[in-house]
Amino acid sequence: MADARINPEAPPSPEHVTIWRKDYRPPDWLVPEVSLDIALDPASTRVRSSLKVERNGAHDRPLRLAGDEIRPLTVTVDGAEARWTLDGDTLVIDLGGAEHAVVETEVEIVPQDNSKLMGLYASGGILCTQCESEGFRRITFHPDRPDVLSVYRVRMSANKARFPILLANGNEIAKGEGDDGTHWAEWHDPFPKPSYLFALVAGDLAANRDSFTTMSGRKVDLAIWVRERDLPRTGHAMESLKAAMKWDEKVYGREYDLDLFNIVAVDDFNFGAMENKGLNIFNSRYVLADQDSATDADFDAIAGVVAHEYFHNWSGDRVTCRDWFQLSLKEGFTVFRDQSFSADMGSAAVKRIEDVRLLRAVQFPEDSGPLAHPVRPESFIEIANFYTATIYNKGAEVIRMMHTLMGAEAFRRGTDLYFERFDGQAVTCDDFVDAMEEASGVDLSQFRLWYSQAGTPHVTARLEHDTGAARATLHLAQAVPATPGQADKQPMVLPLRTALIGTDSGRELAAERVITLNEPSMSVVFENVDEAPLLSINRGFSTPAVIDVARKSGELERLAQTDADPFARFEALQDLMYRALLAGARGETVDYDPVVAAMGATLRSNALDTAFKGEALIIPGESVIGDRLPLVDPQAVHESRDALRGAVGASLADDLTAVQAITASGGDLSPEAKGTRRLRAVALGLIAAADPSRGAALAKAQYDSADNMTDRQAALATLANLKGPERAEALDDFYRRHRGDTLVIDKWFSLQAMAGRPDTLDQVETLRRHPDFTMKNPNRLRALAGAFAANPWVFHSGEGRGYRMLADFVIAADAINPQVAARLVPPLGRWRRFVEPYAGRMRAELERIAGTPGLSKDVFEQVSKSLA
Ligand code: PHE
Ligand code: ZN
Repeated sequence: MADARINPEAPPSPEHVTIWRKDYRPPDWLVPEVSLDIALDPASTRVRSSLKVERNGAHDRPLRLAGDEIRPLTVTVDGAEARWTLDGDTLVIDLGGAEHAVVETEVEIVPQDNSKLMGLYASGGILCTQCESEGFRRITFHPDRPDVLSVYRVRMSANKARFPILLANGNEIAKGEGDDGTHWAEWHDPFPKPSYLFALVAGDLAANRDSFTTMSGRKVDLAIWVRERDLPRTGHAMESLKAAMKWDEKVYGREYDLDLFNIVAVDDFNFGAMENKGLNIFNSRYVLADQDSATDADFDAIAGVVAHEYFHNWSGDRVTCRDWFQLSLKEGFTVFRDQSFSADMGSAAVKRIEDVRLLRAVQFPEDSGPLAHPVRPESFIEIANFYTATIYNKGAEVIRMMHTLMGAEAFRRGTDLYFERFDGQAVTCDDFVDAMEEASGVDLSQFRLWYSQAGTPHVTARLEHDTGAARATLHLAQAVPATPGQADKQPMVLPLRTALIGTDSGRELAAERVITLNEPSMSVVFENVDEAPLLSINRGFSTPAVIDVARKSGELERLAQTDADPFARFEALQDLMYRALLAGARGETVDYDPVVAAMGATLRSNALDTAFKGEALIIPGESVIGDRLPLVDPQAVHESRDALRGAVGASLADDLTAVQAITASGGDLSPEAKGTRRLRAVALGLIAAADPSRGAALAKAQYDSADNMTDRQAALATLANLKGPERAEALDDFYRRHRGDTLVIDKWFSLQAMAGRPDTLDQVETLRRHPDFTMKNPNRLRALAGAFAANPWVFHSGEGRGYRMLADFVIAADAINPQVAARLVPPLGRWRRFVEPYAGRMRAELERIAGTPGLSKDVFEQVSKSLA
């Protein structure tokens, strides 16, 4: 509820109501059929809807249809004038004692004024929809909850010259010409679906067409719809789509079910992409790529997101969520599926490292901060705020742990049972776990705590070795920290992939096995350990926890060189870096030699592949370093990291120079080629940290000779940090070269906002007034505001000026697009983690946002929880 203390003037707004999971009730009325007739026009669209409704169970409650910023022009029941009222935005219709009825409504909406990008809106001349979670109610009156499934029939009409292409879910069943230059099309989707999966698109679009033959021999027509000039950039998305379709058949036995699969790219989109049945709509950044405009990371993200949305056809569309508290049912599972797909398509080790890096950078801080929530939340004010790293990425880790605990075969039996049992239904996370449990025979009762308890578990591990008895004993203990609303936690099920390695020989002393820690503490005995052992624990990050291992000196160095598990090896190297970084941040004298030696050995190793080296040599960023300190002084963290980078760059100058000189052809997207470019970028950064003028010269040369965006962007990122004429020259050149190319100009904004320079805040202010800047485009807003807020040293600089700037962005963006504005709040919400005077200044800006009249419930929820 609204808190009077935060804004004494404003009465508690009736919108700011908390919704509880425990209050779930099945729908009073079902809607087996929806028929829409939509006369499309950006300035005035008329939506006529006909709902076939059926009473669900014995009750005498009226039909309640959700609306949002729409008013009914007409309402009829079975063709006659209806008895209706409005309760806020909800249309309440008295159906008397009828068991079923046909309810027709008519509304008018203005897509071109829809800056929230929810419902029907205009993006660069295209009309498109976004309905998840609650956007359908901005198009027409409807129960708009995921447990109400309907078969949809949609008739669209529009001006033929401006909107020659008309698309909706399912198949086109009829089309024709209308009056005054209009045309129309009628689409029918045979699969019952919730309203959040409804979609339509109208625009002047061109298609990259292809086809896929499914495992049962059905031919599916595929099309990726973009503006004509973007067609040359759709090849990678199409290849990714076909690979994903094949992979889902092979790994999960899931076949596509319609004759048509359409993807549309739009420039204005709140999130990454949307899995509407048969008509996925994408943020163009996850579709368009070529060598000249996209980095390796962009190519990988496109493959991952295309696969993610495609996989939702089964994990989301065919089997959907009962209510929004179950969001991770589809998102956690689908992220796990897309992660596995990407691992299979490229380097599995690198993919796992990247996924864990993201989890630690985004989900761990969320889980230890004011916005922490369980994978299955108990309550929310605005569901749009719950499309979080916890729901998505921790949710994926929970699925991955089930896979680890039961093994690949039993896991597959479980998913087969899940899809078969719940096909066409809206279900819960518990339904999923029930199916997995039943098919595998593994008891998952305690495991379910992963869905209800928030907070990252902490594990301490200590290995004892009795030389005489040749016996090693591993002592383990766990604790889950308190999180908002959850003071006391129960012990969880933590599967730890563990092995013992000979300190001197490097031999495997105890083969890898899964140790499941499910008590507050326990000890595990290993026999026949006839050599001093090294503990290799939580291999592959089998449990998403913080693991504290008591280590003797020299152990990490040995593990970094001998562990057979690439992830564990990466971890050992990272832990060596952290040891130096944290000592530096605490103001202690730092011995850089062990880190330098380990990084040098990794660089020179003939046994390790380039892709792995490129990942393993990345020095952790300032924000994750801060996460390992009790309280953060951003200046101290920055200086410590700079010092390590300088020391490594100076000591390994020759090795770094050698790898920086190795190039890979831009068109080559193999893991080796990507690794080569990654390693080059890492080396360039370290060289520049030790010797700025040499770094600038090398970066300029790399920039000028680059035949791909990965090398060019890496060079520019290094130059952006430096002084000297090369910087401005390259930034200007980049702008001129890519002017008008929206996705690349986003990079130009964020590279400057990410620069670690004393004048970066000034630059952000200048860029905010740049003619190419607009807060209406979420990508552009994130490229500037999101980027500088993710640049810790800069964000925390200027005696609170960075905080003020972010708060100004939030307040201004909230009036345009609350969902996107709310996602800018978390960096300020971490205020409790910082020393004074930082903490107080961050808090003050949160309070200023909270006191702004007319705040959306999106921003209200994030800010009030951050202050609580
Ligand atoms: N369901 C989308 C996905 O994860 C994300 C999304 C949510 C997109 C809400 C738009 C709006 O694939
Ligand atoms: Zn998803």
